[in-house]
Amino acid sequence: MIETSKRSDLVSYPIRDIVLEAKALEKKGTKMIYLNIGDPAPFGFRPPQHVLDAAADALKQNYSGYAPSEGDPELRAAAAACEGVQQSDVFICSGLSEGIDFLFQALVDPGRNIILPNPTYPLYLTKQRMMFGNENFYDCDSIWEPDADSLRKKINKFTKAILVINPNNPTGAVYSRKTLEDIVNIAGEHKLPIISDDAYERLVFDGEYTNLRTLHKDVPLVSGNSISKNYVYPGARVGYLAFHGEGWDNVKDAVQRLCNARLSVNWEMQRAYVAALKGPQNHIVAFNSELKKRRNLLVKRIAGIDGLSVASPRGAFYAFVKVEKKGRWKNDWQFVRELLEEGVVVVPGSGFTSDHNTMAFRIVFLPSLEQLDAAFDRIEGFMK
Ligand SMILES: Cc1ncc(COP(=O)(O)O)c(C=O)c1O
Repeated sequence: MIETSKRSDLVSYPIRDIVLEAKALEKKGTKMIYLNIGDPAPFGFRPPQHVLDAAADALKQNYSGYAPSEGDPELRAAAAACEGVQQSDVFICSGLSEGIDFLFQALVDPGRNIILPNPTYPLYLTKQRMMFGNENFYDCDSIWEPDADSLRKKINKFTKAILVINPNNPTGAVYSRKTLEDIVNIAGEHKLPIISDDAYERLVFDGEYTNLRTLHKDVPLVSGNSISKNYVYPGARVGYLAFHGEGWDNVKDAVQRLCNARLSVNWEMQRAYVAALKGPQNHIVAFNSELKKRRNLLVKRIAGIDGLSVASPRGAFYAFVKVEKKGRWKNDWQFVRELLEEGVVVVPGSGFTSDHNTMAFRIVFLPSLEQLDAAFDRIEGFMK
């Protein structure tokens, strides 16, 4: 038997891992409703037409070579204009996923950590493990806003940066200005940079939204963004990192070398992202209004199910649902597996934290109102 590396043994991605089990059951005849992956395409949501046209035009033009490693100059300039930084502060990556990988590679030696929100988007957890970093989380309150006291307490001498995901995956929380100001102050006290994951920046359908780029003062900030969710085009695989403020020179140099080492990002799709950033933004109004309807249905249905509770999401398209009937299931995996038998695929909450006692699941509310209602009928029956 050929042995695998210690690093690869640490890789897991619960959002997709659960699908294997769902497919096996589907083969035996269970009809599944998939509420696990945050991909708008299977539910009929499409990128804006002018973005698709730009991709098609690029295919007919001369974009078949390697793009510059740090990205198409026009895309860097367009992203820099959105962020309020210089073009040289922006690095294009293959989705924000690659940007996240670059940040861990550039910042985290073994035993160090980026402090993560609890719960967090699982890629951060996996990357931290793969760097042989230490797991370190700050807590969130009952509506999933970061708890400033917990953040203050949990930062340690091995912490290299603070991660903020706003709007949040997996909770759908959108943070108040006060919370963000507290985080900036704490980062300033500890002389730590902030990583702001803005993957869902435009998907806010309720109340106010503040982006850290408007608040960070003299605290160094790196914003991560992508075409995937904000422009409904996850298959394009283009994103960027934008560095704000002072102190980043070494990190930018490392990110440039990481970009060089992987050569380049698909050029045609970078042209599509140029059109997305510079063109009309009306798609977002229609998308958010659909998301709000689905969110309202989700909150109403969960309120009617004994044993489940949820903090109402204000952004993105996820909810993190707490399961209160603890005695009935050993853990969240058992809960999710039993729910699979009823034909509903959700992701165990423990996949988003290092806390194995988490009794929760993440649900995606992208499906149509009819599909969501059907899923909740099954969940309600199961909970009874
Ligand atoms: C919070 C968050 N950050 C980053 C990503 C990565 O997105 P992409 O690589 O498609 O840009 C995702 C994808 O779901 C996400 O939810």
